[in-house]
Amino acid sequence: MGSCAVVELQRNAPKWSKVIDEIVRMEKKIFPKHESLARSFDEELKRRNSGLLYSDVGGDVAGYVMYSWPSSLCASITKLAVKEGYRRQGHGEALLDEAIKKCRTRSVQRISLHVDPSRTPAMTLYKKLGFRIDDLIEGYYSPDRSAYRMYLDVDE
Ligand SMILES: CC(C)(COP(=O)(O)OP(=O)(O)OC[C@H]1O[C@@H](n2cnc3c(N)ncnc32)[C@H](O)[C@@H]1OP(=O)(O)O)[C@@H](O)C(=O)NCCC(=O)NCCS
Repeated sequence: MGSCAVVELQRNAPKWSKVIDEIVRMEKKIFPKHESLARSFDEELKRRNSGLLYSDVGGDVAGYVMYSWPSSLCASITKLAVKEGYRRQGHGEALLDEAIKKCRTRSVQRISLHVDPSRTPAMTLYKKLGFRIDDLIEGYYSPDRSAYRMYLDVDE
């Protein structure tokens, strides 16, 4: 990977709007409408107990991961994406790894996520970092699109 930093987006950061604008553009490009947070990003991030990390490559946002910890027992990875031109350079793994570390600091017992089984790169990455398949949730994204629920137990 070239010179790159995983940065936590802070609400009062001067770059806030620029970073969010870039992420919203990526959301629209990468995810189908019903799976996209593009229209609700700002709201999602205003919620307590959620955070966003992004990969900064020379001022460009290469990718992002969003996570939340709704209870003291469990956290979830809500979104992970890397721009096409930056894929297969380690950004996705670095982002997920950092998000797992952030969740660990909240002392949760389990981190879970949902993923479309057809997203092979994402499934492979999640398995690489220790996530296991819990269940297939029929109709999770839309009537004809299901999701695997995956989990990582933190004390493993
Ligand atoms: C999934 C995604 C975030 C991976 O990002 P990335 O930066 O390309 O991933 P990395 O370079 O860090 O790869 C880390 C590991 O992921 C897996 N992986 C990544 N791309 C892969 C591919 N095309 N095929 C198979 N495995 C892949 C591999 O295990 C890889 O480890 P390795 O390099 O030792 O083989 C990226 O492909 C993406 O944005 N996809 C579209 C959005 C998406 O599906 N998000 C998840 C659903 S919410």
